[in-house]
Amino acid sequence: MSGLKIAIDGPSGSGKSTLGKALAQRLCIPYVDTGAMYRAISWAVDDAGLNDDVEQIVAYVQNLQLKISPDSARFQVWVNEIDVTDWLRQPDVGRMAAKVATIKEVRAWMVPLQRAAAIDGGVLEGRDIGTVVLPDADFKFYITSDESTRMLRRAEQMGHKEVVAEVVSDVHERDRVDSTRKHSPLRPATDAVHIDTSSQTVAESLGLMLEEINRQ
Ligand code: DC
Repeated sequence: MSGLKIAIDGPSGSGKSTLGKALAQRLCIPYVDTGAMYRAISWAVDDAGLNDDVEQIVAYVQNLQLKISPDSARFQVWVNEIDVTDWLRQPDVGRMAAKVATIKEVRAWMVPLQRAAAIDGGVLEGRDIGTVVLPDADFKFYITSDESTRMLRRAEQMGHKEVVAEVVSDVHERDRVDSTRKHSPLRPATDAVHIDTSSQTVAESLGLMLEEINRQ
């Protein structure tokens, strides 16, 4: 299966990371979490004290050195040789990432890095993979699930046992920003296979994806 390029997109909490990792493991190909790449540069932007000045953010980002290890067991990201992996899941990094990811020049800088990561094949997971990063991917999946399921998954990721107001506002705000931004908004590619994971186990959704891949 080497050389195979698989695009996975969908909103936060849809289950796309879990499925992306499982699929990459099953097919023995690299896994690239493109959201973590946006989170990493956003962490750096915040660390540098840059908040709202788009020109400054763009100039700063264009001089960053971003390195990844495309491994489904532990996807790691370095910014200017600093391993930032453990800091990326914090909610404020996610909010900052959604904001930084709206900037056209930042996306133009990021997309070639993501394409390079997939040069020998891999599962790339994000928001614009099927539409922009890998329009010629061998397979494209668009993962969704109903809002209450996404809220619960997000709560778990954020370390809560139940859905609390912080989770609701986080999910709503990220959905709004990611799907309404002007450049590369979250959209299913026209040729993507849609999978609704609301009432499926991981094994069931993964089974559907593998069926699709093995069919061709
Ligand atoms: O998947 P995630 O929550 O780690 O993504 C963090 C943010 O990065 C998300 O709000 C949208 C943005 N993102 C993007 O714009 N394009 C991608 N391919 C991946 C993520």
